[in-house]
Amino acid sequence: MCGIIGICAIKRNVAPMISLGLKRLEYRGYDSVGVALVLNESRVHVLKARGDVDSFLSRFKVSEFKAYTGLGHTRWATHGAPSDVNAHPHTDCSGRIAVVHNGVIRNFSIIKSILEVRGHRITSETDTELIAHLIEDEIPFSSNFFEAFIRAISRLEGSYALAIINSSEPNKVYFARLKSPLVLGLGDGFNIIASDIPAVIEYTRRVLTLEDGEVGWITPTEVKLFKLTDDGIAEVKYESIMSRVRFIEWSFEEATRLGYPHFMLKEIVEQPNAIKSTYDGNIDDPIVKLAASLLNEANHIVLVGAGTSYHASLIISYFLSKIAKIKSTPLIASEYKVVEDSISREDVILAVSQSGETYDTLEAIRAFKSRGAKVIGITNVVGSALSRESDIAIYMRCGPEIGVAATKTYTSQIMVGSILAIYSAIENKSLDNSSTRNLIDDLSKASDILGLSIKTSLSILNDSPLRGIKSMYILGRGLGSMIAKEASLKVKEIAYIHAESYPAGESKHGPIALVEEKFPVYFIATSDSLEIIGNIMEMASRGASIVVVKPENVNLNISSSHSINVVDMPPVNSLLLEPYTLIPYFQLLAYKEAVARGYNPDKPRNLAKTVTVE
Ligand code: AGP
Repeated sequence: MCGIIGICAIKRNVAPMISLGLKRLEYRGYDSVGVALVLNESRVHVLKARGDVDSFLSRFKVSEFKAYTGLGHTRWATHGAPSDVNAHPHTDCSGRIAVVHNGVIRNFSIIKSILEVRGHRITSETDTELIAHLIEDEIPFSSNFFEAFIRAISRLEGSYALAIINSSEPNKVYFARLKSPLVLGLGDGFNIIASDIPAVIEYTRRVLTLEDGEVGWITPTEVKLFKLTDDGIAEVKYESIMSRVRFIEWSFEEATRLGYPHFMLKEIVEQPNAIKSTYDGNIDDPIVKLAASLLNEANHIVLVGAGTSYHASLIISYFLSKIAKIKSTPLIASEYKVVEDSISREDVILAVSQSGETYDTLEAIRAFKSRGAKVIGITNVVGSALSRESDIAIYMRCGPEIGVAATKTYTSQIMVGSILAIYSAIENKSLDNSSTRNLIDDLSKASDILGLSIKTSLSILNDSPLRGIKSMYILGRGLGSMIAKEASLKVKEIAYIHAESYPAGESKHGPIALVEEKFPVYFIATSDSLEIIGNIMEMASRGASIVVVKPENVNLNISSSHSINVVDMPPVNSLLLEPYTLIPYFQLLAYKEAVARGYNPDKPRNLAKTVTVE
């Protein structure tokens, strides 16, 4: 997830405006930063470098430049490591066209080959730079720049929010939006295009949210908006544009959370988009296929992760077995010494860490690498220690997660692991083509399932769903027991309730001794373990207060009664999809209870977002 901004103004220097806009977009992630300023009609002045916004702005003294049109970009790398050359803006061969982009171009490799054959000099590893050359390539076949722009973006597959300047038209910023957010800010003597509202409300609160397929340009006093459809391009009338303009009341802080009271809630609710980005960014990625080959060649596979990433590892290990018939051992990263002496060069370590900086996980992979093992890293941060120290790095591409409690990164890690399991099955032929196609098709529905599950959960859960509870069990079997571990961590770490999770079949081997009248027990029932009904009944017979959370299509032949409340989540037709219909209920259960108890879900006590210490 990157941040883009474009401004054109009359008699108002845009350099300081873009500088502050970049600061306001920093929360969207930054590993590199850049600006492009139209200083005169012959060229666009580009300044860019790896690093954070403050160091960039002070190093280049951006605010001291004078320009009336410009672009800015904060990068959260998806293609190409963080570096000066990969930082945006990117230009065409002539240096007259500059582009900033948020999104993923899926067909970038074929476009790159075509452009290189046609003599374009591609200098970076990014998909974005190709857009500048594509426009340049279309100009000779177009009646004007806008037509070349439209012809170029019509050849793109994937997602984009674009802002583009052309030094021959110094008072215009062109824009286009497809599956990545983009808003217009309408000012007095200036107009702004930006990834989202925080970058705009510094200067104007009159905001228009663009829709997919909308393209156009801004000048200091004009907005021209068009809708790209399969039948061509249609102009959006001025009255329609004005009718969509909203006056934003939010403070900057609220705007960064897009109006949500906490980042955690924003990140729970944005999971459908985040997981779609993970799916789109990995489903055709040759890197994932390479990792699948490595797994198939391995003598033994160990998965390592901490906290939520460990819980995701459990599910990834399960799907590797279920789908690809590949055996593996999921391990809590800090316990890596348990298997260290048995690791050899024939083994592969699958390390899961959204930050890519967790001390325990890095210690584990370093120990295993010293014994010759290969490392596949699954991480959300390009350029993180894990990505640099892995033999193969797979990126989650779900955008930065600000809330301390992991939510969208958990479902994103499961998505990456599921794709990896499918490709491993394709390679070792444990699945035939039609089954493979069905599973890939199933996964493409995860985003919609998450959306339905979030909607259902919000409609079911009251504001204090765990009122008065101090201790509880969250149990499951099979896939359900793995999801239950993550559910209990969420309740523990943000609502500060002692929620214990263990496989439900273990109850009679000891833990059931804790159960007395009204003791709260949540069961997560999944299609792979219908025998859980026996565990539910053994708890009910001891007076426990039971909530059974299950996909609607999982039939346990029980209905709600005085001691058992059955909560049906949206039905799914594949075990692969069950985590997405089940986990949002528990993420929101924990979130709502934390807020009800007066805690800040974004900053839980004693916890940090990334644990870089022993
Ligand atoms: C989960 O809600 C916690 N924030 C924590 O357990 C986290 O998952 C763990 O520290 C691992 O972080 P990582 O994914 O960045 O390695």
